[in-house]
Amino acid sequence: MSGGTQDSINTEKVTYLLGLLGRQRSVSELNPDLSDSDFEDIASEEDELHKDSDKKVYTMLSQMLTKPPVVEDSYESSTTDSQSAVEDVITGIYTDLIEMSESNLVRNDPFNLKVHVKYAEKCLTSPFPPQYVGYDANHGWMLYWLVNFLRTMNRPVDESVSKLVTDKILRVTINEGLGGIGGGSGQIGHAASMYASVLALVLVEDFDTLNRIRHNLYKWMMSLKKDNGSFSMHPGGESDTRSTYCILVIASLLNILDEQLCKDTASWLATCQTYEGGFSGIPNTEAHGGYTFCAIASYFVLLGKGEGSFKERLNNVIDVDNLLRWTAMRQYHLEGGFSGRTNKLVDACYSFWIGGIFPLLEMSQNTNGSLFDRDALRTYILNCCQDSRGGLRDKPGKSPDFYHSNYTTLGLSIAEHEYSFMAQTKPANNDDYAYLVDSVRVRDGDCSAINPIFGLPLGVAEKCKEYFKLADK
Ligand code: FPP
Ligand code: ZN
Repeated sequence: MSGGTQDSINTEKVTYLLGLLGRQRSVSELNPDLSDSDFEDIASEEDELHKDSDKKVYTMLSQMLTKPPVVEDSYESSTTDSQSAVEDVITGIYTDLIEMSESNLVRNDPFNLKVHVKYAEKCLTSPFPPQYVGYDANHGWMLYWLVNFLRTMNRPVDESVSKLVTDKILRVTINEGLGGIGGGSGQIGHAASMYASVLALVLVEDFDTLNRIRHNLYKWMMSLKKDNGSFSMHPGGESDTRSTYCILVIASLLNILDEQLCKDTASWLATCQTYEGGFSGIPNTEAHGGYTFCAIASYFVLLGKGEGSFKERLNNVIDVDNLLRWTAMRQYHLEGGFSGRTNKLVDACYSFWIGGIFPLLEMSQNTNGSLFDRDALRTYILNCCQDSRGGLRDKPGKSPDFYHSNYTTLGLSIAEHEYSFMAQTKPANNDDYAYLVDSVRVRDGDCSAINPIFGLPLGVAEKCKEYFKLADK
C-alpha cells in the first residue's frame, strides 16, 4: 500500500478487504473514521463470510445433483446418450466435492491464476509444434485470445509480445488495410480475421498502426456491405450476424462508424431472430449462442440514437421476452454451465457467448440484479474447466486451448460482476451505449471486469475509442 494519512491508509485497507469479500464499494461510501480494531473485525467477518459462501456452494451443489431438470428429453438418441455421459462425469466431480467436505462446507476449486498466466505467457513466447499448422488461418485470433486472456487476468503485456503482435498483424494486413486483414500470410482479407487482429492491436495499444490503416479498413468494410444491411465475410463470401458484429465493433472502436455503414443493419439483424427466441446466423436457420451474442451486442453499437429509451428501442426491434426465455434455457441445471443451442451439450466457451448476453439484457432492461445463476456458472467453470497444467477447456475430458481459455475466463468475470449502464447525459451517437458499461464486483475473484459488448477488459475499448475521438477533433 502506498504512503498516506491514517485515514487514507484505513480507507485503502477497507477498500482492499471489501474487494476480497466480493463487492467493491466506491471510496465515498466508506467511513474514513475506521480504526485498526475495526479493520480486524472486518478481517474476522471475512472468514465468516467465506464459511457462508462455502455453505451456499454445498446447498447449491446438493440441489443441482438432486433436482430434476425443468425439461427432460426421454427420446433415446445419440444426443441423449452424449448428454447422459456428460452428466455422469459432472455428477462424479460434484459428488466428490461434497464427499470431501466437512460440516457441509464446500469450497470451489480456486481459479489457478499462476498456472493460467504461465500457460498464456508460454504460448505467446514459444514456437508452436507442427500440429498447429491447422491454425494458419488464425494468426490474429490466436493473438487476441492469448493477450486478452492475459489482460483479463490483470497481467501486463511484455513489450516483446506487443512487438510480436504488431509484426504479425502487419504481415497479414493487405495493402495497408485496403484489402482488409487476412488470417495468415498470403490469405485474402476476412472480416473475422480483421476483427480479431484489430482487437489484438487495441489490447497492446498500438494506436499508431490502427490510425494508419483505419480509413482504408473503412473502405474495405463498405465494399462488403450488402443491400439488405448485412455484410459479407469477404468479397463473395457468406454474410451472417458474425460478420455484421465484427464490422460494427471495429468501426466503433476506430471511430469510423457512420450512417452509411449502419444503414438497414438493425432491421436485417431482427430477421435472424427465430421462433425459439435466439438468433441464427442468417434468417430461417437454427438459433445459436454465438450468432445470438453477435446480434444482441451489435444493437449496442447501432441503437444509441433515436426516440425513447434504449430499452424501448431494443424492445421495438426484437422480442426481448422470447430472447430472455431462450437464453435462460441455455443454463443447465445439473452442470451449471451453458449450451449453445437446444438439445446440445454444455461447453465453457458459451460462458461468454451466452453468458455475455445476460449483462447486455441486465443493462438494457434495468433489471437491477441477476438474470441467470452466477454461482452455478462459476461452479461449472472452476471445478470442471480448469486444466491443472494451465489453460481452460470446454468440459472435463477435453484439452485446454487458447479459444476456451479466453472465453471461459471472460465468462468467469461475468459471473463475478453485475452490470448496469453508467449515469448518462443524452447519448448522441449510434454506439454511445457500447461505452456506458458500469460493473460492480459481486463475487470474490481474480479477473478484471469486462466490457461484454467488445469481449475486452473494461477500459480497453474505452481507451481506444477516446484516442480516436481525440484524433478526429
Ligand atoms: C456450432 O458449433 C457453432 C456455430 C454454429 C457457430 C458459433 C459462432 C460463434 C461462436 C460466434 C463467432 C463470433 C465471432 C465474433 C466470429 P458446434 O456444432 O460444434 O457446437 P454446439 O454443439 O455447441 O452447437
Ligand atoms: Zn466451445
